[in-house]
Amino acid sequence: MKVIDTEFLVVGSGIAGLMSAIHLSRHGRVIVMTKKELAESNTNYAQGGIACVMTSDDSFDQHVKDTLIAGCGLCDENIVREIVSAGPARIAELERMGLAFAERNGSGGARYDLGREGGHSRRRVLHSGDITGREVEKVLLAHARSRPSIQIIEHALAIDLITSGWLGLPGPNRCVGAYFLDRGTGEIAAIRTPHLVLATGGAGKVYLYTTNPDIATADGVAMAWRAGLPIRDMEFIQFHPTCLYHPKAKSFLISEAVRGEGARLVDESGRPFMERYDPRGDLAPRDIVARAIDREMKVTGAPCAFLDIRHKSPAFLRERFPNIYEKCLSFGFDMARNLLPVVPAAHYCCGGIEAGLDGTTAMPGLYACGEVASTGLHGANRLASNSLLEALVCSHRLAETAAAFSRERPDLDIPAWQTGSATPSDEAVMIGHNWNEVRTCMWDYVGIVRSDKRLERAMRRIRNLRQEIRQYYFESLVTSDILELRNIAAAGELIVRSAMMRRESRGLHFTLDYPEQAAPPPRNTVICDPPGEFLPDE
Ligand code: FAD
Ligand code: SIN
Repeated sequence: MKVIDTEFLVVGSGIAGLMSAIHLSRHGRVIVMTKKELAESNTNYAQGGIACVMTSDDSFDQHVKDTLIAGCGLCDENIVREIVSAGPARIAELERMGLAFAERNGSGGARYDLGREGGHSRRRVLHSGDITGREVEKVLLAHARSRPSIQIIEHALAIDLITSGWLGLPGPNRCVGAYFLDRGTGEIAAIRTPHLVLATGGAGKVYLYTTNPDIATADGVAMAWRAGLPIRDMEFIQFHPTCLYHPKAKSFLISEAVRGEGARLVDESGRPFMERYDPRGDLAPRDIVARAIDREMKVTGAPCAFLDIRHKSPAFLRERFPNIYEKCLSFGFDMARNLLPVVPAAHYCCGGIEAGLDGTTAMPGLYACGEVASTGLHGANRLASNSLLEALVCSHRLAETAAAFSRERPDLDIPAWQTGSATPSDEAVMIGHNWNEVRTCMWDYVGIVRSDKRLERAMRRIRNLRQEIRQYYFESLVTSDILELRNIAAAGELIVRSAMMRRESRGLHFTLDYPEQAAPPPRNTVICDPPGEFLPDE
């Protein structure tokens, strides 16, 4: 088996992975491993932009306050303050790297054209039209490619972490590398490193309907759980209120920034309904808006709600939302003339691997950054456009911390991957079937509105599915499909268990059996019991 050595290994090529790699490349050799093409990531699809205090009528205190309100009592205020106040320096750095944020036309006032989204009391979202994420990826990829100390390996899927404890070595358990699947050749190899950064992104694919691209299969959280890391707050899955409802649109998002420019949520007959649910109306935090749409759909039997922005001119809409405008047009909706049909869909995983602001985790040698990490910024509900900001700030801190430790190669041998008596997969039907079953079960029973009964049902099914998947995993030669299925099922169990542990409704977790917030707020939900399926020969 091939074993590659590097001083830093970054798994993932979204904003968190690429930014970490760029910062780390000043201190040593970095490998960036990513499971598909480089740009394929949640980052690439980000629309609204990056929340940051940029004007004199805004303040760090106000951004902190908005974040804490959205987070419903579970944010770590110190972390929120650190991230918010480190924002402007990181934005300036991104601009120096070549990112152009939209600016205002005409004279006077502030320089940037700032967007507004749910839960923000000010306009403070920097954007590049409605393709902010694509522009971020473009700039960061160009930088990463230009650095000789960064090596990029595409189509390489990290399977599991390798730890000194698993190798039976004495001393504190530390991360020393990872096994990965080369998707081109089907071979398994290992990377040995003293510093491994998980920047694997979110978990949208755990649910049947999601705004996330196919890469979002919770791989990092599942790997960390198997390696014994504490996983926090997984019950808080954010559903974005406005995913385009069209059979061919797959998972196209209509940015909250559209509501920031005055769009209203209306029912089939064009009546606005958000004021009945919250005085902040269409720009209430996302948990409230998604629940309101869900309720409207259940009460009226309608298959979707609608966004109405017909009062804006085609010229304005084309300029401010060029990508959304064109995409909607391709499905037969002219935003300037038609109501847009929308439904909520799984969007963001607020929980993840418990990590510090600098990505450090409970395991030396292992860092988590970006959506895969739970730093304490988001609490029970992420404030819109705070996640790109978090990735920028935390990747910077991560590099400072990691650079202070030794970069010496771990003095140990990595055992070859054991295939045992595994044979090539001949039951692909099981993978497709269970893939749909996990996602449907999570959507039906662990969605926007939960109950004890639904969660119990989900737990029974997910546990059975995980047993079946586990057996198949050990009997067959690994493929990316079985690895991703194994990971969404693991994340499903983490979400269900966390939801069962929270016997109240707070933020994104709403249950019919405990519809009120408990006082004082119960603590963060933490699961730290490796499921005992770490590697094949265990
Ligand atoms: P990602 O960008 O998802 O990158 C993860 C990377 O890890 C990918 O390269 C993936 O291929 C790789 N990977 C995963 N598993 C493995 C594995 N096992 N082996 C190897 N590689 C692996 N947030 C905002 O702040 N503002 C917005 O406007 C905004 N809009 C959004 C719009 C959409 C449609 C979506 C889906 C999300 C949006 N978000 C927004 C959320 C934000 O985009 C993400 O939270 C953020 O980009 C996550 O960055 P990341 O680097 O942590 O993960
Ligand atoms: C959006 O543009 O609506 C998404 C913003 C986010 O998820 O932060």
